Order: sequence, then C-alpha cells, then structure tokens
Amino acid sequence: MNESVVLDKIVKTHGLVKAVDHVSLSIRSGEFFSLLGPSGSGKTTILRLIAGLDHPDQGDIIIQQRVVTLDPPHKRPVNMVFQHYALFPHLSVFENVAFGLHMKKERQTNIQNAVSHMLALVRLQGKEKRLPSQLSGGEQQRVALARALVNRPVVLLLDEPLAALDQQLRQEMQGELKRLQREVEATFICVTHQQDEALMLSDRIAVMQGGKVLQVGTPQEIYDHPVSSIVAQFIGLSNTLSGTIASCEGGVCRVDHEVLSSVLVMCSPHDPPQGAVTVMVRPERVHVSSDMSINGYDNMLSAVVHHVAFSGNEVVYHVRLRDKAIWMARVPIAEAQASSFAIGQPVYVHWRAMEGLVLPAHPASC
Ligand SMILES: Nc1ncnc2c1ncn2[C@@H]1O[C@H](COP(=O)(O)OP(=O)(O)O)[C@@H](O)[C@H]1O
Ligand SMILES: [Mg+2]
Repeated sequence: MNESVVLDKIVKTHGLVKAVDHVSLSIRSGEFFSLLGPSGSGKTTILRLIAGLDHPDQGDIIIQQRVVTLDPPHKRPVNMVFQHYALFPHLSVFENVAFGLHMKKERQTNIQNAVSHMLALVRLQGKEKRLPSQLSGGEQQRVALARALVNRPVVLLLDEPLAALDQQLRQEMQGELKRLQREVEATFICVTHQQDEALMLSDRIAVMQGGKVLQVGTPQEIYDHPVSSIVAQFIGLSNTLSGTIASCEGGVCRVDHEVLSSVLVMCSPHDPPQGAVTVMVRPERVHVSSDMSINGYDNMLSAVVHHVAFSGNEVVYHVRLRDKAIWMARVPIAEAQASSFAIGQPVYVHWRAMEGLVLPAHPASC
C-alpha cells in the first residue's frame, strides 16, 4: 500500500515546551490512523503541522511522495475538522458546506451537485437551509465533516471529532465516521484521548506521551502486546504489580514481590525478562472467590472488597491487596449474581499465568 503521509523526525517546540519530540510516522493511503494520548501529548500539534497551520523546527513532512514541509495549507491535499467544528454561524448548512468551493470559484452547478452529494453522504438532506444554531451537536459535526470532505481531500485530519457529543451520539457517530471513510476512500488521521474510540475505529494507532510516539500498531497488537506499562495502562490494563524476576524457565517466570506472594507469568522463552518488572493483568481475567484455592488458576492473592460498581451487564469489584494496591475484576452479571461479595469482605483473586503480561519496569525510551 502507498504511503499517504510521512513524518520524518519532526520536532516542534512552543517556547520551552517540546510539543513534538522527534516523531516519525508513516501513514498508509486509505488508512484510518489514530493518534491516542493524554491531553498535552502533542496530538493537535501534529495535525496542525500536517495541515500546514504550523511548521516544524526540524524534520520533513511528505504527503503523497511530495515534500510539503513549508508549503502553506492551501497547497496541501488536506482538510481539517476542528474540535469545536468552527462552523460559520450566519451561514446555512448548504452555504457552510459550499464555502470552500465558492472560494475555489467552482461553477454553480458543480457546487450544487457536490454539496447535495455530500449532504446525502452525511445524511443531512432536507436540512440545507438551517443555521448551525438550529442543529443538534451530532448534526453540526456532520456539517463540519461534509464541509471538509466536499473539497475531496486525500487526507482528512480530525481533532477529537466526537469529544463534544454525549455518549450515545458518540457511539452512533463512530459508526458514521467509519462508513464515511470507506465511502470517500480518503486517509483519515484522527486525534483522540479515548482508548475505546481509538481501538474501535482505527486500522492502526500511534500511542503518544510527552511529544513522543511510544508505540504504533493495530488495535490488537497494542492491546495484546503493549511495549511498556505506560502504553498498557493507557489502553485499560489497570491491574499492576511491581516485582523482581526470581526465575524464568520454559516460558514461565516467577516474579517476587516485597509484600505479596510470588506470582507466575508467561514470558518469551527466547528473551526472558530480567530484573525489575511490572506484571499486568486485565480486569476481565481476574477471578474473585471466597475460596483460597481453585483448580486451574496459577496465581492467588488475598484481598478485601473495597468497592462494588454495577453496570448494565457486569459487576466491577475493586479489591485492595495486602500492599494497599487496588485491583479491579470485571465479572459478568450472571456470574456475579451466583456469588456476590460485599464491601469489606475478605476474598481471593485468582488468574492464570498465561493471562498476565510481564513488562520491563523502566522501559527504554524511544
Ligand atoms: N501555541 C502554543 N503555544 C504554547 N504552547 C503550546 C501551543 N500549542 C501547544 N502547546 C503546548 O504543547 C504541548 C502539546 O500540545 P497539544 O499538541 O495541543 O497536545 P494535545 O493535542 O495532545 O492535547 C502542550 O504542552 C501544550 O501546552
Ligand atoms: Mg489537542
């Protein structure tokens, strides 16, 4: 597949802040690529550099095999949808979408056709004459998308496109975004700080922190094989235990902890970890029981129920381990109804060695 956008060792500072710190990325044609990271990690700055709204201090930006590092925005085959839509409040839906085509002095019939096509694509037919203030948040977002896509960009940049929407609309629009991307066959580069959104929408994700890219991969690669505990925590692996490798044999390590019992975790037999490590266990893999030993589990730690949270189809137990760390266990509702635990109750958490993940405690920075 062709490369659509290449960032080559990009550095961008704002005063004393290194907003983007030697970032290299290669984004493929037609890909849904997400930049995922906490607030302040440099995501918006990267989009602005690709759009040409800012220029890097160092490095190059290549779009469709052409170096565009210092080109102004209108010389790039790129459009951006901003976090707060930035619609013209005094223009109708139709005029908002037509604006870019008017600026390019397109013929009236072309404008009419292109805008109608786009409004159909974002499912806003019949609302052409409304002002933005007469639309819901989701509809305003669709206008912003239509306005960006009507120019037929090769690359669409989306800055937290769904952040202003409530939960239900957000989920609806996630599906819409994916459908739109397939229909217009453009490269979408989407910024988000929501891991579930990135995992659901993206072909590939770059996880960012402090202006650096920590990992690039498919959602599955990042979820199953995070390169560091920072990445793992960022995508929802919240149960951690810090310890030291005591032994590694045949792909199973024993990790000793200062206070808690030792735990077993699978590791690569060819490249076993050494020294200080972090063991991580997904909340959906942790089994809570009042029994100390259960067949089939390799690990057991004693704990006390600290908090119980109910959601539609599961119960999340927050339990306090003897070292005071809080772990979470997600239990399907049917299972939780069969055996429930109360706050303050002593319990045991169990999990299998193959369901833990062992990562260096202090990853080499990349
Ligand atoms: N125009 C600016 N002037 C000064 N600092 C800025 C400017 N834009 C961004 N920054 C700083 O650069 C860092 C990265 O910002 P940004 O790219 O907006 O992050 P994100 O979009 O991931 O939240 C932050 O520390 C932010 O405060
Ligand atoms: Mg931002």
